Amino acid sequence: MVAVAILAAGKGTRMKSDLPKVLHELGGRSLVERAILSCQDLVVERLLVIIGYQGDRVREALGHYPQIEFVEQTQQLGTGHAVQQLLPHLQDFVGDLLVLNGDVPLLRSSTLAHLLHTHQTHNNAASILTAQLANPQGYGRVFCDKQDLITQIIEDRDCTPEQKQNRRINSGVYCFNWQKLAEILPKLGTNNDQGEYYLTDTANLLHPVMAVDVADEQEISGINDRQQLAAAYNILQTRIKDQWMTAGVTLIDPASITIDDTVELAADVVIEPQTHLRGKTILGAGCRVGPGSLIENSTIGDRSTVLYSVVSDSQVGAETRVGPYAHLRGHADLGNNCRVGNFVELKNAQVGDRTNIAHLSYLGDATLGQKVNIGAGTITANYDGVHKHRTEVGDRTKVGANSVLVAPVTLGADVTVAAGSVVTENVDDDALVIARSRQVVKQGWRLRSVNSEQ
Ligand code: UD1
Ligand code: CA
Repeated sequence: MVAVAILAAGKGTRMKSDLPKVLHELGGRSLVERAILSCQDLVVERLLVIIGYQGDRVREALGHYPQIEFVEQTQQLGTGHAVQQLLPHLQDFVGDLLVLNGDVPLLRSSTLAHLLHTHQTHNNAASILTAQLANPQGYGRVFCDKQDLITQIIEDRDCTPEQKQNRRINSGVYCFNWQKLAEILPKLGTNNDQGEYYLTDTANLLHPVMAVDVADEQEISGINDRQQLAAAYNILQTRIKDQWMTAGVTLIDPASITIDDTVELAADVVIEPQTHLRGKTILGAGCRVGPGSLIENSTIGDRSTVLYSVVSDSQVGAETRVGPYAHLRGHADLGNNCRVGNFVELKNAQVGDRTNIAHLSYLGDATLGQKVNIGAGTITANYDGVHKHRTEVGDRTKVGANSVLVAPVTLGADVTVAAGSVVTENVDDDALVIARSRQVVKQGWRLRSVNSEQ
């Protein structure tokens, strides 16, 4: 049996933030959520998260994981104290306990599986994930004998200058035999620079405790300040982009592109520079996105293009051209073979196949049929100052340039709206509507100048 405990009670002073450190975001997910996800390939019986500083906020942020047992650490007296809080909760638990710091977000599941496997095959009392770092500053130093058995862990601030030379560090990822740990947890002291209960002191009280070096040091990067948060973001981005390039996606100037790990890309997608893909975004095969586009929580169909545009919470069909300079938001759902762009904003608008809205328009709360043509400068007046109203436009209808469709209003199929119309009433199928004042021409009329009067 395996239980996982995630330490997430600390404030994170070095972040200089009102937000608890573990709720800071890294590529669309909080640090603590990333710690939880690093266990996703393990069979875990119990998942406990130790909360304290702004605990309610952490609890709420993890509300979508119903299996989590939250354990309160009301005073943050150190990592050892945090794990002591588990004692009443795991009284009857038999098995191994994985302990992860909530601020170590880049761990791979395979690394944890390897740690657990080593721990179990050697029958260790504890196994600790370690690394040999070129710059070990800030981390606890791990001292071992020749068999990689740990004799002591000393925090950076408690090290003598000589001890600081040791480059082997504690990653903050541990695997304990729970019964053995439970026995010695009450014995932890606070004899250190911070006067805290250190989880690392368990290494003095348990035998054997094995150091297991991580293969990829980047995985164990702990986040204590904003510089480390930014560095971790770059590591994460490199991982994500490598994965997609291997899967057949072209990235032009990858350094200028960002992709959340919640995004899905089909083969032969091309992503141009300065493009950002966020949240639950899916791009179909052969799409070309960018340069200069932001797509979040949206789906783009096969072989469509999105150029210098922003697309949020929307759907775009296949072979549709979006942009340059379009803004789709709040369920703007486009069909196949559409064209939307050149300063067009669509909000909560459903657009049928082969419909074009090609220049300078705002369409909000609208339903458009197939093969509709919306002339340049057409606007839906969807808001009367209190309520939003819908506009409906039937198949093959053509709306002339600079028209205003005052909602609620319905235009049937095969309607032609004369340019410059302000349409306030419904129009049946197959009709021409002209809703503007007639042009008046006064032949021979001239403005009489002041001089000519004299
Ligand atoms: C800790 C380790 C250090 C290791 C480093 C790796 C100890 C004593 N030191 O140091 O050896 O190299 O992690 O990143 O464990 N927390 C609580 N309750 C508390 C204190 C902390 O839940 O009372 C949580 C924090 O929210 C954080 C984690 O424990 O998620 C680690 O705490 P932090 O203060 O960042 O420890 P480090 O100084 O980085
Ligand atoms: Ca830390």
